[in-house]
Amino acid sequence: MVNDSRIQKIPYGGDYNPEQWTEDVWAEDMRLFRLAGIDIVTLNVFSWAALQPSEEVYDFSKLDRIMDLVEENGLKVCFATSTAAHPAWMAKRYPDVLRVEFDGRKRKFGSRHNSCPNSPTYQKYSVRLAEELAKRYGQRKSIVAWHVSNEYGGACYCENCEKAFRVWLKKKYGTIEEVNRAWDTAFWGHTFYDWDEIVAPDLRSEHFAETRTNFQGISLDYSRFNSDSMLACYEAEAAAIRAFVPDAKITTNLMGTYKPLDYQKWAKSMDFVSWDNYPENGAPYARTAMSHDLMRGLKGGMPFALMEQTPSVSNWLSYCALKRPGVMRLWSYQAVAHGADTVMFFQMRRSIGACEKYHGAVIDHVGNENTRVFREIAALGAELEKLGGHTLGGRSRAKAAIVFDWDNWWALEYSAGPNTDLHYLDEIFLWYRALAEQNYAVDLISEEDALSRYEVVIAPVLYMTKTGYDEKIRGFVRDGGIFITTFFSGIVDEHDLVITGGYPGRLRDVLGIWVEEIDALPPDASNQMTYEGTSYPARLLCDILHTEGAETLSVYEKDFYAGFPALTVNSYGEGNAYYVATRLSDDFYRTFLRERLEEKGVRPVLDADAVSWPTEKASPHSDGRKAGIEATERFANGKSILYVLNHTDETAEITLPSERTELLSGRMLKQGDKISVAPKGVLLLEKNL
Ligand code: GLA
Ligand code: ZN
Repeated sequence: MVNDSRIQKIPYGGDYNPEQWTEDVWAEDMRLFRLAGIDIVTLNVFSWAALQPSEEVYDFSKLDRIMDLVEENGLKVCFATSTAAHPAWMAKRYPDVLRVEFDGRKRKFGSRHNSCPNSPTYQKYSVRLAEELAKRYGQRKSIVAWHVSNEYGGACYCENCEKAFRVWLKKKYGTIEEVNRAWDTAFWGHTFYDWDEIVAPDLRSEHFAETRTNFQGISLDYSRFNSDSMLACYEAEAAAIRAFVPDAKITTNLMGTYKPLDYQKWAKSMDFVSWDNYPENGAPYARTAMSHDLMRGLKGGMPFALMEQTPSVSNWLSYCALKRPGVMRLWSYQAVAHGADTVMFFQMRRSIGACEKYHGAVIDHVGNENTRVFREIAALGAELEKLGGHTLGGRSRAKAAIVFDWDNWWALEYSAGPNTDLHYLDEIFLWYRALAEQNYAVDLISEEDALSRYEVVIAPVLYMTKTGYDEKIRGFVRDGGIFITTFFSGIVDEHDLVITGGYPGRLRDVLGIWVEEIDALPPDASNQMTYEGTSYPARLLCDILHTEGAETLSVYEKDFYAGFPALTVNSYGEGNAYYVATRLSDDFYRTFLRERLEEKGVRPVLDADAVSWPTEKASPHSDGRKAGIEATERFANGKSILYVLNHTDETAEITLPSERTELLSGRMLKQGDKISVAPKGVLLLEKNL
């Protein structure tokens, strides 16, 4: 499905659940798929109870017929293992499959994504099912990908998890003394003398709210353990599949900026990344772009699969707004523009019962092709057919990167101070948005990724500085890179233990500063600073710092720390390290980042000057630019494709930066040509390198 020589065009289709229907409906499905240009279906996502009606019996007869049917109709298959919802008989006979919630409630049968990852029953039967499926269907040529379980998530606090946690800790720390040190259990006399004294840190133990804990160390380790536990389930199923299908391409559908699972770790065990894109109502387009870029970064920029999106509406929002005409197409291309090699939906046919009966589908309850949504899907299907393989395998060549780290996310939001309004994603997004809305290419990278290919690296609130990461930053700056970090960085090590000797700890020398105190501001309060003649409000946190070699670029203007630095730069080796000591506004981040990139000769993918609007409305940005035209560039096979996406309701005009072919219309365009992009419209502009 991704990086697969059998794939010659963008696979187009999605979750198909024929088992929910009588067989006479299936033939009509095939007719409609043909009409819509559907060429791939994700099968068998939630069929465990049907495949294994009792502990002793497997029954694949219906799945055999479904597989025969889709193959006769030339469809490719993304083949799921069905292990995201256990059968009722299993929960009744083996209650260990049922999770214990954060508040200590033991679940009964119901819902989905509900199995305890450390349940011996779940482990045994999920792997056995994956094995049976691989044995039976592994040689089917139609299968282009294996889809293990579905949207792993949540957490369990049962006794089996508790036991497994102790084993995990033993492996990590070796001795109980080391655990006590890492968690600083001398505080409040929580010293452990025996492994069995350690319990899961839930609402009955160290927590008093989801992100409020008395002991960050144990909570942080439990987050890591829970993510690892689910990953182990994924890996066990993947191994079972691989035993029968050595060259299987295996994935599971991720959820973008999903906090409970460390996807950077997960991706190492996945053959390719796939994810489900369901933006919140009214989310800025840059927010969706950020999730795509995070997902692309999980495997070093390798293309990913857009596994699910709704064709029209999501049922689970408070206000289930329809995607407006053209938006499904626009967002499909947005995914491709950010690195997706597939366009897939949840789901093919709208169910008649249960909680997703009002979720959008290719085939609506009316059951025919005469709907707006179907027509839009069929039009996109025809277009993707025409587009062929042009976009496949495209890669970004971003020169700016934002460091994203799950451990840091967990630790920061467990931190018990200094400001409950401090949210990791918000801070990441402020920086991301400033780049994305100016059409600078950006990668979201992990702490394991190399920095040398970038000119500018931003690590917003690098609260946790893991051993060795400081050295990586030093090396990057020494070699000429621009490194930017912010308030509340360099504070703790990987155990959430404060690095003593002055903040920002290990980053103090490269930044050339010492942070003495941190002031937290409630939502309605602000300090102020001025940068290059413009004044900006300073909010959330204000670090009060002294320079130790760094140059002060701006100072606070109010309160007892007026005159103290709010923005500094330290020249270190060949490069520069910036410290933004407080939370500033969008306009600051835009200006500041544009300057840093210009300093390095990095240009936006599409210059702001290249976009013009027939009717000039008030601009949301201080620099007079209107946001809404998104541009990305991807490179493959000696070609570049410039994607231009119009997220607004107005026609825009683009001045071509270079000679290119518009792939969807076949038009050849010269440098300087003016081409209009309709509201919600897209341009795919290809050129040879
Ligand atoms: C998720 C799931 C699907 C379906 C959709 C509905 O992404 O994977 O099974 O429930 O949400 O939005
Ligand atoms: Zn459990």
